[in-house]
Amino acid sequence: MSNPNPTVLKIGGSVITDKSKELQVRMDVINRLADEIKRAAVPKLIIVHGGGSFGHPLAQEYGVREGLKKDSQKIGFSETHHVMTVLNGLFMDALIWRNIPAVCITPSSCIITENGRVKHFEDKPLKKLLEMGFLPVLYGDAVLDIKLGFTILSGDQLVSNIATRFNAERVIIGVDVDGLYDADPKVEEKARMFNRLTLKELKNLHGRVGKPKNYDVTGGMFGKIAELLPAVESGIPVKIVNATKPNYIYKVLKGEKVKGTLIEKGRVRVG
Ligand code: IPE
Repeated sequence: MSNPNPTVLKIGGSVITDKSKELQVRMDVINRLADEIKRAAVPKLIIVHGGGSFGHPLAQEYGVREGLKKDSQKIGFSETHHVMTVLNGLFMDALIWRNIPAVCITPSSCIITENGRVKHFEDKPLKKLLEMGFLPVLYGDAVLDIKLGFTILSGDQLVSNIATRFNAERVIIGVDVDGLYDADPKVEEKARMFNRLTLKELKNLHGRVGKPKNYDVTGGMFGKIAELLPAVESGIPVKIVNATKPNYIYKVLKGEKVKGTLIEKGRVRVG
């Protein structure tokens, strides 16, 4: 059997939680996604999930992303990390109860950032798990930072970093809209979705799409695009799809045609 390069799948926090209420999990969505992941049976898969209404409100309340300035923030770091482990536990439950050999890798225990960028990453356990046929699961987390004391590492930066590090075959970003639009589709009725974008087109767009809103401490779609650039730059195709719609994640994992935005370095491949 060939030894494929891994697929990296991000499931956005707005998909698996209700962002309008603090600490509201969407267990029905998590269960459906776990079914789709099980059915798709991708040979080498790494999952990263976001924080949604678990990580973001606490991170914002305590200014975790901005770093340690006063002692009273420390409990905020602990709480932010803790609620992420709770959300992760629910996600892991859904996978493991379906007989998927998933193992959680806690980012704050193996990653240290410098000014918010991944600096040290002890990735040997992740590599080993992947080689052994396990499904590693990571998430956006509150992490220690050489310069800031601590900060927030977004799931999107993690995805890009892992994809490049492990020479991923592809990156799939599951969000709660159909793809990348020229304006926020939840606000602008006339927003147009892009089916395909090259790196150059993406760079031109960057800075114009979806301004960060409410308590999204890692910058919403705007932040996502910026974080995805390094992966695309190193030749890894990124597909953004709507994970709230049944079977979209299944189809994209199987390589079937599904509505969404495909971002590639240049126009070389088809699919
Ligand atoms: C954020 O991760 C994690 C925390 C705030 C602790 P992400 O930035 O990847 O989360 P979503 O997908 O936007 O919710």
